[in-house]
Amino acid sequence: MSILIKNGRIITATDDYVADIYIEGETIKVIGQHLSFAADQVIDASGLLVMPGGIDPHVHLDMPFMGTYSSDNYETGTRAALFGGTTTVIDFILQTQGKSLQSALAEWKGRSDNNAVGDYSFHMAVTDFNEDTKKEIQHFIEEEGITSFKTFMAYKGALMIDDRQMIGLMNEVKKHGGLINVHATNGDMIDFLIAKHRNEGKLEPLYHYLSQPEVTEAEASGRFADMANYTGCPGYIVHLTCEGALNAVRNATKRNQHVFVETCIQYLILDASLYENNFEGAKWVMSPPLREKKDQATLWAGINQGLVNVVATDHCPFKWEQKLMGKDDFSRIPNGHPAIENRMELLFSEGVNKGRISLNKYVEVSSTNAAKIFGMFPKKGTIAVGSDADILLLDPNETHTLSVNTHHMNVDYSGYEGWEVKGKVKTVLLRGKLAIDNNECKLSKGYGQFVRRNKVNGKI
Ligand code: URP
Ligand code: ZN
Ligand code: ZN
Repeated sequence: MSILIKNGRIITATDDYVADIYIEGETIKVIGQHLSFAADQVIDASGLLVMPGGIDPHVHLDMPFMGTYSSDNYETGTRAALFGGTTTVIDFILQTQGKSLQSALAEWKGRSDNNAVGDYSFHMAVTDFNEDTKKEIQHFIEEEGITSFKTFMAYKGALMIDDRQMIGLMNEVKKHGGLINVHATNGDMIDFLIAKHRNEGKLEPLYHYLSQPEVTEAEASGRFADMANYTGCPGYIVHLTCEGALNAVRNATKRNQHVFVETCIQYLILDASLYENNFEGAKWVMSPPLREKKDQATLWAGINQGLVNVVATDHCPFKWEQKLMGKDDFSRIPNGHPAIENRMELLFSEGVNKGRISLNKYVEVSSTNAAKIFGMFPKKGTIAVGSDADILLLDPNETHTLSVNTHHMNVDYSGYEGWEVKGKVKTVLLRGKLAIDNNECKLSKGYGQFVRRNKVNGKI
């Protein structure tokens, strides 16, 4: 199978030029002007932007969490991702405390094998670091191709590890060429505030927000940066939301340390006023919660300052009946919101089309940096000869409206109902195959492959 993409404006993290792309099998074979290969299929990309397929390194598919499961599985989640221009996702395996990492991997493979439409990889979340877990780290990095290890400084009693475990894990991960991702909020402070609000009978979604003030994130982000600096282990803070936390990372740069930072699309464009509408606010109950307008400004600036490296989603959808589990108590509302399908278009519309970021920056934070940080570059994350033909064709001027009625995520509301978006995904290729065209998915479940990742060194 061969495809020739003609006359597109090719954008990578560094380049911007008009050329043709010839694809044979799964990879890009030739890039040049006026190519005349006889291809099985020719796509006219005149007027379109031709960019690397999006990489979302923070999603939760079919994940057991807070007494239920996130509502998108590997099939529905990766298909929705493709509709939105994201060709590869990285999901989180959760270790059960008291059990091995290997048993968690087996459980996740059981849900993902032969079910994904788009490509995927795994981070391994270590929730119980001990002498047995320690022995498994090298195997995960060298044999499984899973080189990033997620830690939680919150969700006390379920997922949280203490600083002693964190330091031990960092030493082991650094030794073998991996990286630590962290949910950096202070679990003890949050626990205290949740209990306080519940005791006072303050049970609405607003109190989810008020139980996780900025200081809980700023403190943990600084502590994590200090531990990463002390151990020399590459670190990546997931879903960073606020000025205080970003300033902790900024401070770390003064000692020539770079902690990678991910924010998520919702923290750039939504704010905490959404929690004021009584239980409706449950749609946006996530951890950390939405913040203030001043934090949005800090995050957009952080992208341009090179402090925020990745814009992900933390896609963790729950249907409304699942959100209702917490109708009488905010602490029982499953945390998370759906965005896997909306990220690329929202970031384009709010970022590029509103003049906040350049086209090159858009590609960098939506695809290239994630590929580099997590050991998939240049197979993924760019348009170059030899790279996987994961390609997004986007019309920068077409406008449309986001809605539950048109999205493909398995959730019965949209966090962005009625948003006017300028910039539309037109065609998506995954490893040389037409994935999305004319608002239709052309791939079946099982096409999506697990992506083995390389060792990393904390540099991009
Ligand atoms: O609210 C969130 N973020 N849910 C998913 C779990 C996590 O903390 O990433
Ligand atoms: Zn988290
Ligand atoms: Zn998450």
